[in-house]
Amino acid sequence: MKKIIIANWKLNGNLKFIKKYFKKLIKYNKYNKNNKILILIAPPIIYLYKIKKIIKKNKNINLISQNIDKNLIGPYTGETSPIMLQDIGIKYTLIGHSERRKNHKENNKIILKKIILAQKNKIIPILCIGENIKDYKNKKSLKICKNQIKYIIKKNNINIFKNIIIAYEPIWAIGTGQIANIKHINKINIYIKNYIYKKSKKNIKNIKILYGGSINIKNIKKIITQKNIDGLLIGNYSLKIKNFIKILNIIKNNNEKKK
Ligand code: PGA
Repeated sequence: MKKIIIANWKLNGNLKFIKKYFKKLIKYNKYNKNNKILILIAPPIIYLYKIKKIIKKNKNINLISQNIDKNLIGPYTGETSPIMLQDIGIKYTLIGHSERRKNHKENNKIILKKIILAQKNKIIPILCIGENIKDYKNKKSLKICKNQIKYIIKKNNINIFKNIIIAYEPIWAIGTGQIANIKHINKINIYIKNYIYKKSKKNIKNIKILYGGSINIKNIKKIITQKNIDGLLIGNYSLKIKNFIKILNIIKNNNEKKK
């Protein structure tokens, strides 16, 4: 199964940066087409169209939006609609990243609206879940993550998870250099996978859960070899193309070892 590797640029990058980044990434991709990795790059939305033109037929490299609005069209200044993403050929979007939950007061209700809207418009949501430091210390991680999923099932339908990728991102690990340990990540991922599996009466089997939070070259090997971690959501470390390619190479080598 392909590992999904997302580079989340957040509020970084400019045209010069993009030119350099994609020159190297396209070159890497030319020689590594069969690396069994789904590469997703999430630049600021304003650059998606430009980059789409740069990557042209490089099918292995996909683009992902960092966010969408909960509305499709109308008087919503400053927002981006999933129809607009579809219009320019973008097939994925992050939803509910903890920075949006915190800085833009996005709650479970708003997040659910966005998931529904994305799916209706053929955009695959990458739903971010995760607990804060207080809940982690109080051993409430499982409960918090489960509740984020449970809300969606309760207010909508379990079938919504047929077409969602989940990213487990403990808030206390994002941008802090403090990565969650393997045991903890596995515990959450396995629990959430089983939870959805059971709730769907064993209909939804292939739930994909990525990990995100302070990934770098030193800690990636341990993480990527875990069978219940289906990929990575990388912020800061993905900003240098040299580093991002190092990560892709490690995953590629690991895939080859498994053959
Ligand atoms: P980080 O960010 O890798 O810089 O910790 C991850 C994320 O927010 O997705």
